Amino acid sequence: MSKRIQLNTNYSKDHQIVVGYKLEDEIISFLSDNFSLKKAVFIVDENVLGLYQNSYISSLKVLFDEVVLCSVPEGEQSKSLSQYTDIVDTILKSKVERSTPVIVIGGGVTGDLGGFAAASTLRGMPLIHIPTSLLAMVDSSIGGKTGINHSVGKNLIGAFYSPVAVFADLQFLETLPQKEIANGLGEVIKYGMISTPSIIEDLEKLPISKPFVYSKDWEHLVAICAKIKADIVAKDFKESGLREILNFGHTFAHVIERVCGYENSSHGEAVFMGMWGAVKLSNLLGFNIDIANLSVFRALYTSKFDPEESVAELTELMLHDKKVKDGSIKVIMLEKPGVARSRIIQDVSVIQESWKFIIEEFK
Ligand SMILES: NC(=O)c1ccc[n+]([C@@H]2O[C@H](COP(=O)([O-])OP(=O)(O)OC[C@H]3O[C@@H](n4cnc5c(N)ncnc54)[C@H](O)[C@@H]3O)[C@@H](O)[C@H]2O)c1
Repeated sequence: MSKRIQLNTNYSKDHQIVVGYKLEDEIISFLSDNFSLKKAVFIVDENVLGLYQNSYISSLKVLFDEVVLCSVPEGEQSKSLSQYTDIVDTILKSKVERSTPVIVIGGGVTGDLGGFAAASTLRGMPLIHIPTSLLAMVDSSIGGKTGINHSVGKNLIGAFYSPVAVFADLQFLETLPQKEIANGLGEVIKYGMISTPSIIEDLEKLPISKPFVYSKDWEHLVAICAKIKADIVAKDFKESGLREILNFGHTFAHVIERVCGYENSSHGEAVFMGMWGAVKLSNLLGFNIDIANLSVFRALYTSKFDPEESVAELTELMLHDKKVKDGSIKVIMLEKPGVARSRIIQDVSVIQESWKFIIEEFK
């Protein structure tokens, strides 16, 4: 039996996030009940298409008289204006209507790109997310952020646009490479730190460093994380306050990704390192957070971080984060396990100390 999470906001469309295993039948019922089955747009990650085109994806395609299929090459470089233009060209040339469903199947890259194409084409077509990576299931498919990158920075062009439904089918995790499981776990650990400490204990009991095998425990974990994100987004869809706590570890992580190059670093790994710094910062500000909550997962992450930049330069780079306001560094820190707050930091020396702590651990 799948788990259903309701996401209601004053701002966006109410919709369900369904978490389960082998959800094809549920998806087919949803599509049949809600859409004319004449035409659909499928925007699919190329690896996922290769693995599932004769099974999962064909069982959804046969529902429709006509399918417009866009395959998205893997990697962050697909979140580009040119890839976006290709997709919009394909959609418009196939004479879709504003009510034609856009079904986006893939990880966060395909989700952000396909979501933005759905948000912007014909001023918004109904979007259905079928996230296939752990990160997309627990994070990027929830909350309505869609977008692409610009040479000036990541995710700078986009829209807040809610899907009409999200189906997180854990079956897809069976083919997800192990390093991508670890990538998604960075965000799962984050939910344990900022919201629900029992996630850390649940994770310790799961065989997270072994190839994924479906279990109810995994399903429970993904559903808890999806619910945490949905509940936060429901209260603050446009990120004017509470939603900021989801950025725990991210102000450091964005600099780590920038310095290492987005193509060479995994977001989840950078978030893990960033949380390492954010825990140190919280303790420097007088709180008492046990780093053991993170160190227990340390072996999952093997990348090194030994930057050429000094800690002063890394701190300076934090000022380029797009969430910076009025030239001050705002960091999410923990007051106690499960309680996160944003704090403007005036004394940059504590940030520099936190960078030293990260480098000491990951160099
Ligand atoms: N919109 C948001 O709120 C939000 C939140 C967090 C991250 N993001 C974005 O998400 C993106 C990262 O997403 P990601 O980590 O899912 O990366 P990704 O989409 O690049 O997927 C990772 C890799 O896994 C492959 N893959 C995906 N599903 C698979 C499956 N079931 N089997 C085999 N291979 C599979 C992909 O082809 C790719 O090679 C970034 O662009 C980030 O900015 C967005």
